[in-house]
Amino acid sequence: MTNKYMYFIANWKMFGVLNSLNTLNRVVKFFKNFKKRKSLKIIYCPPSTLIEPMSKKLRGSNIEVGAQNCHQQDVYGAFTGSVNSSMLKSVGAKYIIIGHSENRQAGETDKLINLKIKSALKSGLKVIFCIGETLKAKRKKITKSVLNKQIKVGLKNIKNNKKIIIAYEPVWSIGTGIIPKSDDLFKTISFIKKEKKNYKVLYGGSVNPKNINQLKSINNIDGYLIGGASQDPKKFIDIIKKTYN
Ligand code: PGA
Repeated sequence: MTNKYMYFIANWKMFGVLNSLNTLNRVVKFFKNFKKRKSLKIIYCPPSTLIEPMSKKLRGSNIEVGAQNCHQQDVYGAFTGSVNSSMLKSVGAKYIIIGHSENRQAGETDKLINLKIKSALKSGLKVIFCIGETLKAKRKKITKSVLNKQIKVGLKNIKNNKKIIIAYEPVWSIGTGIIPKSDDLFKTISFIKKEKKNYKVLYGGSVNPKNINQLKSINNIDGYLIGGASQDPKKFIDIIKKTYN
């Protein structure tokens, strides 16, 4: 582990009610006293309903808040059930996850993702752009071409690379407890960094306190997008502590 800047992004998915915010107390306290605090960023992405109360709770803590998705249109419109990026910004989001595989599987295309990223950037949000291959694509050994297309179309006509972080999340790794072989992961992250120079690239998919030692030994990863384990403050803190041990 070198001394570089690392991201720890919590993706709460569709979990949590107001009471769940109590679990943050432990993380806030930990972060306040953590010696390496200057070298990492913690970002929580709760469901939209918790963005505002979470932002208020975390004020002054240096922990930031992000959203999980948005409509592609940045102005108001007749889209029942949707929220747009500027609405999310107005309640405290600083970041937004776009292109998560759970939404891709529900029909979100690369083109739509591109529009969403543009709208988020226009609204002043930083983007956590998710890419990743399915198990089928991995078996067919077409991971690189899948990622290449996701990157090419997803980031088409977008130059703003300081505001975008790429999260590589192999679909077969999300929620399964399985992570890629270290060698494969190093190569895939290198490939992404070659495709998009100067971008931060995170890894996501079953990151937990048990596999973090293996993951942290892969030295081209700029941080982690953490789903399941991020809902448990102890596990989330353990992941951070072990990364710096
Ligand atoms: P997981 O989810 O850590 O539960 O595998 C990661 C994600 O979907 O972002």
